[in-house]
Amino acid sequence: MKTACHQVALPTAPATTDLASLYAARSGPTPRTTTTTTTREPQEVHVTLEARETQWEFAPGRTVTAWGYQGVVPGPMIVAYVGDTLVVHLINNLPEPTVILWHGLRLPASMDGTESVQLLVQPGETFEYRFVLPDAGTFWYHSHANETVQIERGLYGALIVLGPDEPTFDADRVLVLDDLKLDRKGRIAKTALFDRHSGREGQVLMINGRADQAFEIAAGQIERWRIVNACSARYVRLSFGGRPFRIIGADGGLRESAMTVTETLLTPGDRVEIAVGPFEDEGAEIAIESLKYRRTMMKWPRRVQWGTLRVGPRAPSVASIPATLATVVPLVPPGPATPNRIVRLGARMTFHGHDWLINDETHHHDAPVKVGELQIWNIVNETGMDHPFHLHGFFFQVIALDGVRTEPTSWEDTVNVVGKQTVTIAFRADDRPGTWMYHCHILEHHAAGMMGHFEVVR
Ligand code: C2O
Repeated sequence: MKTACHQVALPTAPATTDLASLYAARSGPTPRTTTTTTTREPQEVHVTLEARETQWEFAPGRTVTAWGYQGVVPGPMIVAYVGDTLVVHLINNLPEPTVILWHGLRLPASMDGTESVQLLVQPGETFEYRFVLPDAGTFWYHSHANETVQIERGLYGALIVLGPDEPTFDADRVLVLDDLKLDRKGRIAKTALFDRHSGREGQVLMINGRADQAFEIAAGQIERWRIVNACSARYVRLSFGGRPFRIIGADGGLRESAMTVTETLLTPGDRVEIAVGPFEDEGAEIAIESLKYRRTMMKWPRRVQWGTLRVGPRAPSVASIPATLATVVPLVPPGPATPNRIVRLGARMTFHGHDWLINDETHHHDAPVKVGELQIWNIVNETGMDHPFHLHGFFFQVIALDGVRTEPTSWEDTVNVVGKQTVTIAFRADDRPGTWMYHCHILEHHAAGMMGHFEVVR
């Protein structure tokens, strides 16, 4: 699956972004200060992503005509280190234009991979993305053109950035969740009118592009699972048959400390990093499942199973999870926080069903954001349905829910806003001027207008 070729950089390869100033602006995780014993020179990581038609075997003996990067779904997993320069050669061999978005990465605006910052890459054309990876964490990449079709057909993949001093686990796994909607002939279904309203959910549930996946973990061991929700609209209320697990990371890397839970909610676009195990009951079969979650009154939720985790024979463990994983310095001190922007998520009936709105407009043009200025935004959901709010290019902290202050323990780029709820986020734009956007990560809602773009200005 892994086709990335890792090349050693010329020693003089210039950095395109100044990491020190990125960190200093505090728009992202504070680097952990532990000094590492191994000093690794930053490298250039070269990856070719040819977007093309492919036969996707989503279950044993069951294939569907799909679109994949390098002909695989998910696309090749990209792994690099903080400070490396990622160089991606996109080749478009699709019958329509495309572009690649680097979800969650704090990269220069010109590399964000949206139609606002670059021309769409036409069939037969190529484009080179080149940027430094400033933060460790679990990210992903996906098409940002005709997304409701291109992502559904398979144009997405995981991007893992490793920090210099990651906690030790017995194994590291990446699980990309996706659901596929097939029509009666077994082809990828066309977008229905109802999808525009409620978002598209499919009947085939896949982990890393395959249904019915089974994993095995040795009894006594602890694994790090990095989970990406690449579904168009499906929320995943992740559970391991009710067993406890520990959340160690969010969208923007490790959280302050591990948090023990029995479930966690992943909206489309979201990532979570968890410590799975240790389990003592050798031979147990644990369901990797998603519990009922009602994100809209228009859908009756069901509990569904994504895969199975088997507990294998016992093995010694080397895992150690430090009490403090990262330092998340609050951007806003406790107490009342006055927003300097209101982003209202709304809807309107039209002759073609629903338009999804930001501040009463489709594709809202929002006011500029000044570099270095603290942003406190109230995301007000005026609809009766949940929306996953996603901000490109900057991590934020969730500082209040319905006006009640919360203590941020992680950095996020995607947050769920429950129907009628107000979520307050805070971020500070570091020095990366250009056009950025935010939108609902239910792809059909994004396409139907629930997005805004704004300039970051000096
Ligand atoms: Cu993953 Cu514009 O989004």
